[in-house]
Amino acid sequence: MITLRCENLIKSFNHTMVVNGISFSLEKGEIFGLLGPNGAGKSTTISMLSCQIRPTSGQIFISGDDIQENEKVIKGKIGVVPQEIALYDGLNAYENLHFFGSLYSMSKPRLTQKVKEVLERVGLTERAKEPVRNYSGGMKRRLNIAASILHDPEVLFMDEPTVGIDPQSRNHIYELIRQMSNEGMTILYTTHYMEEVNLLCDRAAIMDSGRILVMDSIKQLVSQVYDGLLSFELEGDQDRFDTVLQKLRNLSDIAEADLDKQVVTMLVKDSKNALKKILDCLEEHQCKMVQLNILPPTLETLFLKLTGKKLRE
Ligand SMILES: Nc1ncnc2c1ncn2[C@@H]1O[C@H](COP(=O)(O)OP(=O)(O)O)[C@@H](O)[C@H]1O
Ligand SMILES: [Mg+2]
Repeated sequence: MITLRCENLIKSFNHTMVVNGISFSLEKGEIFGLLGPNGAGKSTTISMLSCQIRPTSGQIFISGDDIQENEKVIKGKIGVVPQEIALYDGLNAYENLHFFGSLYSMSKPRLTQKVKEVLERVGLTERAKEPVRNYSGGMKRRLNIAASILHDPEVLFMDEPTVGIDPQSRNHIYELIRQMSNEGMTILYTTHYMEEVNLLCDRAAIMDSGRILVMDSIKQLVSQVYDGLLSFELEGDQDRFDTVLQKLRNLSDIAEADLDKQVVTMLVKDSKNALKKILDCLEEHQCKMVQLNILPPTLETLFLKLTGKKLRE
């Protein structure tokens, strides 16, 4: 069952398109990763999907309803964990949660029950009476998540929720996300850490400069880079380089090969077999390789192949 669907979403600020025609659908209960470097347009996408800013154009449906026509109803069905922590430092966890909960028009007994429940879920029950200013970054993050799930949202938007926190809090957050997904919550998770997407997500979209470059299951995405990306500098008679490139392209263990100045970059299907064949081919044409670099088959490698740049540049 599809919980969220967006079609051809566009957002411009001052005539600059920062989200440039993206479309996707999320299945109920899935953890969907939106992976991309800083400035890709991830937060802007979340702001549109969660009724915080209006798209310049495009449509968004949550549980079948157009969000622009049913904003009030939709807001009760979604939760947002913003990229910047939004809590009152001087208040303790109980007080913060009661404040945020009061925005959801829940009855007092229900809110009291939910506050207790979410504090337990994020592991802050024992520290709940301390002011938030005493909390570590990870604890603040967990409380921010608690505030976003008080009203049992159907869809949860999490915007880079683990940046700059301790490993213990991070693992707690991962575990919580898995639990919520198992209970049927649909989660859209943005990050620029490909490891997180690998660890957590069922499917992911890689986003850069406002566009979705690829979208698939993690397994399918990673398989697009076969056995990894291999690059080296070619040394020898430059007149032979084009012939060498053609020969390399014809090797059965090579999926793609390109030459830029002296640097050969290739996608290999089987790196063990390929390396020997590449060396034989170079020797045959009196060329040599220097500075061999092998990148394993990961989402990072896929991003590099698609954009020519690293995720964290
Ligand atoms: N309110 C705004 N006004 C103008 N430009 C903005 C605004 N919000 C975001 N941008 C720009 O849009 C681009 C995408 O930003 P953002 O969605 O925050 O990316 P990400 O979350 O992937 O890092 C950036 O270049 C950013 O500077
Ligand atoms: Mg962002």
